[in-house]
Amino acid sequence: SLSNDELRQRILAAKQQLGDRLLILGHHYQQDEVIEMADLRGDSYLLSQMAADSQDCRVIAFCGVHFMAETADILANRPEKLAERGGERVDVILPDMAAGCSMADMAAIEQIEDAWDELGEVIDTQDITPVTYINSAASLKAFVGRHGGIVCTSSNAHAAIEWAFAKTSRVMFFPDQHLGRNTALGMNITNDQMPVWDPYASELGGNTEQALENSKVILWKGHCSVHQMFRPEHVAMFREKHPGIKILVHPECPQEVFELADEYGSTGKIIKTVEAAPPGSKWAIGTELHLVNRLKEEHPEQEIHFLSPVVCMCATMYRIDLAHLAWSLENYLDGTPTNLIEVDDETAKWSLVALERMLEVK
Ligand code: 13P
Ligand code: SF4
Repeated sequence: SLSNDELRQRILAAKQQLGDRLLILGHHYQQDEVIEMADLRGDSYLLSQMAADSQDCRVIAFCGVHFMAETADILANRPEKLAERGGERVDVILPDMAAGCSMADMAAIEQIEDAWDELGEVIDTQDITPVTYINSAASLKAFVGRHGGIVCTSSNAHAAIEWAFAKTSRVMFFPDQHLGRNTALGMNITNDQMPVWDPYASELGGNTEQALENSKVILWKGHCSVHQMFRPEHVAMFREKHPGIKILVHPECPQEVFELADEYGSTGKIIKTVEAAPPGSKWAIGTELHLVNRLKEEHPEQEIHFLSPVVCMCATMYRIDLAHLAWSLENYLDGTPTNLIEVDDETAKWSLVALERMLEVK
């Protein structure tokens, strides 16, 4: 196998050959060596914006996970952009097709449709606005677009749920119960107004009719396998051992951890929070390991800890490595592109409706 130095040289050669036609996007959870190759890095919201605003590029290599590449395809190839480019498409490449998201996989479109129908037997679905976290398949985003809903990211979940409540008195939020719950708790909605819909329950998602009738936000029973590893006892341990430490978490953490935190935010916001802090600040950060390790390296003037004694890394983000990036770029240059992510027109059309709302609401 090739060394990282050789792979880096090959990627740089491909970048040089493709010039402005190539845009490499990198999510903050990517490994350092991949992030170094990215033209732009960001959280989910910013990366969507970058794909939406891309000018000269004709190919985006997305160093992130599948739903992000789908979103980039939908936004970069929306009708107004295609017209600007005289019909020329932007190809979107996901360097390793196995880079999925276990949370997104917890909500299949068939399950969502079944739940919606079943729910309709108890409450009027005209009075529910569906909100999907961007960590979901394009088919779910299309469902949301068709039903008057919106896509949100971890950086605009509050504004997106408020947007939804301006339309209807109820919201259904999927797939991440934690982001939905943590955000709604900050809007004075209580846990007893937030039933959880379990797609594997025998009926009504495991809820009583009364619980659904009393609901404000119906949460889908999904979670992030990485962020669910952070526990309240980890917070207690850091507070005891390091007086003055600040706990900074991603809102995908469970409520019992989220409530103990001093600050929270998307990956982009976590980075900005650390950057803005004075030297000597102490942090225990609850988000993916690669990002926390990078923050440690970039901020030696601060004391940064990982908020868990066990390794919590995103195994699918980790699938993207220099070898897959080099291989996919060279295939593209050879005229035999692989790993293209192309959302079908009908799904793209309806997803776009919900994604454009996301980009308007901040
Ligand atoms: P953000 O970068 O938008 O905070 O998302 C985190 C995440 O889990 C991406 O999958
Ligand atoms: Fe999905 Fe969690 Fe990985 Fe993000 S960190 S891609 S939500 S599994």
